[in-house]
Amino acid sequence: MELEKALRERRSIRKFTDRPVDRDLLERLLRTALWAPSGMNRQPWKFIVLEGAAMQRLLKLSAGMAEDMEGPLRAQNFNDKMRAYVKGYFRDLGGARTAVICLAKAADAYLADHANMVSGAAALYNFLLLAHEAGLACCWMTGYALVEKDLLRLLGVEGYKLVGVTPVGWPDQSPPVPPRKHEDIVWMT
Ligand SMILES: Cc1cc2nc3c(=O)[nH]c(=O)nc-3n(C[C@H](O)[C@H](O)[C@H](O)COP(=O)(O)O)c2cc1C
Repeated sequence: MELEKALRERRSIRKFTDRPVDRDLLERLLRTALWAPSGMNRQPWKFIVLEGAAMQRLLKLSAGMAEDMEGPLRAQNFNDKMRAYVKGYFRDLGGARTAVICLAKAADAYLADHANMVSGAAALYNFLLLAHEAGLACCWMTGYALVEKDLLRLLGVEGYKLVGVTPVGWPDQSPPVPPRKHEDIVWMT
């Protein structure tokens, strides 16, 4: 797929079919995603794939989060329908059977910590685009930052920060294209 087309047509998908994601395919996409550039070539990322019982544990954590979201969503002026939709999505991640979690190594120095996080983001975005090219769908979520400590405990990982969680699966919706709100490109000459 042409890169420009992939960039424009990738969407955040929040509803998935029952069809499982082939392990070899997912492994290949993740390995390719790790060709992202990284600060000082530290390659500070970690991808964790959750399926089966591990996926169920993530969903349990999500379901708890969904209940705690009522206040923050009201504060954002989300109406009843939107609040129900967002909470419902956090409860079952759109029926996805697989999730990928991207972490970045935590560092004490701001420079390294920042570089590690954005390097992780580059790897995760690589994965989103590769998944899209393969016909798979994702939805990068940072909502889990609200329960980052619980999530890292669930994963049994220390010394890392959350870059994002994404369900991965075969899409079962084709949502409207969220318009880009502005083109914030400044040329200074
Ligand atoms: C850093 C980041 C965090 C996001 N967090 C969430 C999230 O917690 N929950 C969610 O449903 N979508 C989340 N999204 C998806 C955005 O809502 C989505 O990218 C945006 O609405 C544009 O839609 P598109 O991805 O289809 O172009 C996140 C996206 C990014 C890049």
